[in-house]
Amino acid sequence: MHFISFVASERRNGNCDLLGRLATRYAKESGADSSEVVYLKNYNIEQCRGCLSCVFEKTKCKINDDLYQLLDAIQKADRLLLIAPVYVLSVPGKLKMLLDRFLSAYDYLKDSYGKPAMSIGVAALNDWHQFQLPLINLFLLSFGCHIVDSFIVYGAGPGEVLLEDRTAELPVSIQKLIDYRRTAFQSHVSKHCPIDFSTLFERIEGTNYRCPVCLTPAKVAEDGYFFHAKDLNNHRWTTQKIQNHYINWIVKTKPRFKSKFREILKKRKTFGL
Ligand SMILES: Cc1cc2nc3c(=O)[nH]c(=O)nc-3n(C[C@H](O)[C@H](O)[C@H](O)COP(=O)(O)O)c2cc1C
Repeated sequence: MHFISFVASERRNGNCDLLGRLATRYAKESGADSSEVVYLKNYNIEQCRGCLSCVFEKTKCKINDDLYQLLDAIQKADRLLLIAPVYVLSVPGKLKMLLDRFLSAYDYLKDSYGKPAMSIGVAALNDWHQFQLPLINLFLLSFGCHIVDSFIVYGAGPGEVLLEDRTAELPVSIQKLIDYRRTAFQSHVSKHCPIDFSTLFERIEGTNYRCPVCLTPAKVAEDGYFFHAKDLNNHRWTTQKIQNHYINWIVKTKPRFKSKFREILKKRKTFGL
């Protein structure tokens, strides 16, 4: 079993770096055969150009950067830990640029979907990170991972995370990830979405909400939200649902667009564009 800590901060000896190095050591101690830290900063990742040749021409992405080297590094992992700092309530831009390469990555990674993964968001302070877990877990879900655990560790200056109680519990979390064997979700009440750990919910009507990341319905309960097993096992990012979305929406955008092309040209003339 190969374990990877995937670090999305540029800071050497920063909080994510230190947690990543600790986690790889704990992974070895928990039974992984090998473990390594993979640093996003070591890969040149450019912005998706939206050309869609990866979909319509079935070619690899035409951008000449390190995307596939990075995907190879991720693909080698049997267990994956993503660690990312909060930047202005969100994720660092480079991680978002990697997320935006989802379509190229999908075709490359789809046969290795279902990896157990965990994520840590590093934030300087409480109330300044509500989007972090949904966003880093969106990355993991769109790269086909199954999220076993996800949490915030606090730390501003480099190394401050080492003073946190949550860091002291890291060996237990890593052991849980290493030992994880997938079983179907059961219905239960939770304060966060069990799929992506989001605490942000979209109101549908009355006491019915849904998670905006994975679309799982959530019904207000006394101490959190009630999640039904049938919904938890059928969320937006299951292998089956991503495949359906790819085949029945993304691939079909081309003929759909072609059928509207004349009308678009007419409108462009009307608007002088
Ligand atoms: C550009 C920038 C924006 C930041 N924005 C936030 C923020 O919105 N919320 C927060 O809690 N911390 C924020 N921080 C603090 C970092 O998340 C924190 O210092 C973290 O420990 C950095 O991780 P690192 O040491 O691995 O780089 C920000 C830091 C930087 C450099």
